[in-house]
Amino acid sequence: MTSAVSNETIERVRAVRREIHRFPELGYNEFKTAALIERELVSLGIEHERITPTGVKAVVRGALPGRVVALRADMDALPIPEQSGEAFASEHAGVMHACGHDAHTAMLLGAARTLHEQRAHLAGTVVCIFQPAEEGPEPGGALPMIEAGVLENPHVEAIAMLHVDVRLPAGTIGITPGPVNASADEFQIVVEGRGGHGAYPHTAADAIPPAAATILALQNIAARETDPLKSVVVTVGMISGGYRNNVIADRVQMSGTFRAHDPEIRQGLEARARRIIDGVAAAYGVRANLEMIYGYPPVVNDGPLARAFATYMRTHSALNVESPPPTMGAEDFAYFAQRARGVQVRLGVRNDARGITMPGHSAQFRIDEDALAVGVETLVGFARMAATADLAALVD
Ligand code: NI
Repeated sequence: MTSAVSNETIERVRAVRREIHRFPELGYNEFKTAALIERELVSLGIEHERITPTGVKAVVRGALPGRVVALRADMDALPIPEQSGEAFASEHAGVMHACGHDAHTAMLLGAARTLHEQRAHLAGTVVCIFQPAEEGPEPGGALPMIEAGVLENPHVEAIAMLHVDVRLPAGTIGITPGPVNASADEFQIVVEGRGGHGAYPHTAADAIPPAAATILALQNIAARETDPLKSVVVTVGMISGGYRNNVIADRVQMSGTFRAHDPEIRQGLEARARRIIDGVAAAYGVRANLEMIYGYPPVVNDGPLARAFATYMRTHSALNVESPPPTMGAEDFAYFAQRARGVQVRLGVRNDARGITMPGHSAQFRIDEDALAVGVETLVGFARMAATADLAALVD
């Protein structure tokens, strides 16, 4: 599929991906995975260091002058019992690489190898970031690596990542300027009334009707208060309250997630929610409390850099380059993209003929491994293009 990446490298990427797939590890516990990454880097002779307990930074130095660019892969798995039917399915009970992070890690190793082998003709420096805990727990693996200095010494100016995407067929990559993933913030609401006998509601202050009214009213944030051309999701995912059928509930707890692409809209959500929650509580004569737990910011691709990279790949590869619509999923690559000029690239892994259609986070999730070569070529392409790009001229 590509001339720039050797068949030997692609075969190694496939083998490494399957090995990682067999031994998936949850966030912050990627000790075997980190050791495997280091084993590969040692065998390739690539300089590297463990900068957080399971986070690895590798550096490939080109012989020619150029910028410092970074490539980032996540490496953690999910608490899902695998039902993919693959010969190399998980051997860790209840844990599965159901989001493609095994492939992300293996492809970054393949890109590092390719760039290292070609370093005599390579411009600039490429920092390869193997990041734990993208799926959490909070605060995710990106921030601790940034705090440990992964973007400094040398100072990174541009960064890219790949994410497998079952919306796109293998052989296609997706590069979309602007927002591509949403913020993901958790809210917790407690409605407090006064309990009593279910037969005598006038002697109590029932917490359940105001909780129900609050859920409905919160949807107004999305339905009536947000520009319909912008994206907001309000999901109440959990509710609990009450004791038995003839007891008036004194307390209802709810929690949910806010999602948004636009940082300004995201910032306004807490105040809107508070106004609704307090207003409903006052109307029903109960008290209510809102607590926000802020998570990942939205991933906003650098527009000019994303467009320049799409043009580069259309010119320098035979790949199909599309601009898929953004998703409301979240990614802690957002923190990298706040500090360097960032591009998230979607990697098509769908193959209808082979029945590879299940989405990420499904127990039946699989990828078309033909996409591995595409991913390596894409990462190598970004490093080459960004290391020599006139970034100052790439502005809106
Ligand atoms: Ni993922």
